[in-house]
Amino acid sequence: VHTLAAVAPISFQRGLPAPECLPVDELAECARAAILEHGRTILNYGPAGGFAPLRERIAADYGVVAGRIFVTNGSLQALSLLAGVLVEPGARVLVEGPTYDRALHILARVGAQAVPIPVDDEGLDVEALERELSSPAAFLYTIPTFQNPSGNTTSLSRRRRLAELARERRILVLEDDPYRHVRFDGDDLPSLYELTGGEGVVHSSSFSKIVAPGIRVASLVAPEELVKKLEALAAQTYLAPSFVPQATIFEFLRRGHLDASLTRVRDALRPRRDAMLEALERELGDRAEWSRPQGGYFLWLDLRDDVDARELAPRAEAAGVAVIPGADFFPGGGAGTSSLRLAYSFVATDEIAEGVARLAAAIAAGAPRAAAV
Ligand SMILES: Cc1ncc(COP(=O)(O)O)c(C=O)c1O
Repeated sequence: VHTLAAVAPISFQRGLPAPECLPVDELAECARAAILEHGRTILNYGPAGGFAPLRERIAADYGVVAGRIFVTNGSLQALSLLAGVLVEPGARVLVEGPTYDRALHILARVGAQAVPIPVDDEGLDVEALERELSSPAAFLYTIPTFQNPSGNTTSLSRRRRLAELARERRILVLEDDPYRHVRFDGDDLPSLYELTGGEGVVHSSSFSKIVAPGIRVASLVAPEELVKKLEALAAQTYLAPSFVPQATIFEFLRRGHLDASLTRVRDALRPRRDAMLEALERELGDRAEWSRPQGGYFLWLDLRDDVDARELAPRAEAAGVAVIPGADFFPGGGAGTSSLRLAYSFVATDEIAEGVARLAAAIAAGAPRAAAV
């Protein structure tokens, strides 16, 4: 243990893009151009729903009117406002188990009862969903593509079934989709929004994972009446979003920088995903199972049932590798007790190998000893 005391820490905790993903020069130029061109508008207060040219551009991509687009300071803010508008205290909200931990915190804050529906390597278990739909729910929160935290993607057949169920049972679906374009292999799948023609599905998208999280620009497409309610709550909460980042992103898109940015992110993250899969095979091949994401920022590691991930996490951190215990991603910490979420998005590939080796050592150090003979 004493040899580990001085090691530089490696963190698999947070879904940050690797530093080389960030288009620093392009964003600097776009920000300057945006302020020079739109300064009188974007440096003032303005519409709570976002910078009009960006709304129009996003609306054109979806083929809807701009009044259906709501642009926020990051998609978590949109989720928070949506929860504020849609959830009465005590209402059920269906979520994936596991799901994004910050979404669970938001739901808890508005007094929702989050009901987990299992996720496997084909994504959301639609039969379990159907059973849960026998009682009313405010909405279903799902991350169908490269899910945070599992890395799993809901298959096309399950997406079709989910779209049918949403229509038949009239359940509103919030499709949180920040990772769709961070695909390393396999084919792009239609979103639930696309499969339903947008009927009953609110689709949330973000520039955080494909351009830069610090720019804090995300958008959702929703029915116009819902967007009006969100705008009213936004105006009460923060008057208006930050327009300089929105105008900067607008300029970034207008200059055609997005494709290069997507390629840069994929090229930066694919070898990291590969490095983590290889290291897991090498270090934990006979002791654990894990997801094999085709894209996104995270994977999910299932350890043997006798490993307590909440006990392991601080020991791993002391040994120089930080991870998040799986229970954090279930309502009330009710499952995932022998699992971990690992983010491969930030750490350099050689450090990924080292981090997984440290994790394996921490797991081995805590494993129950075989009975002495
Ligand atoms: C599923 C999901 N939704 C939302 C967010 C938050 O993104 P944003 O930076 O757009 O607020 C994240 C970030 O990790 C995420 O994984």
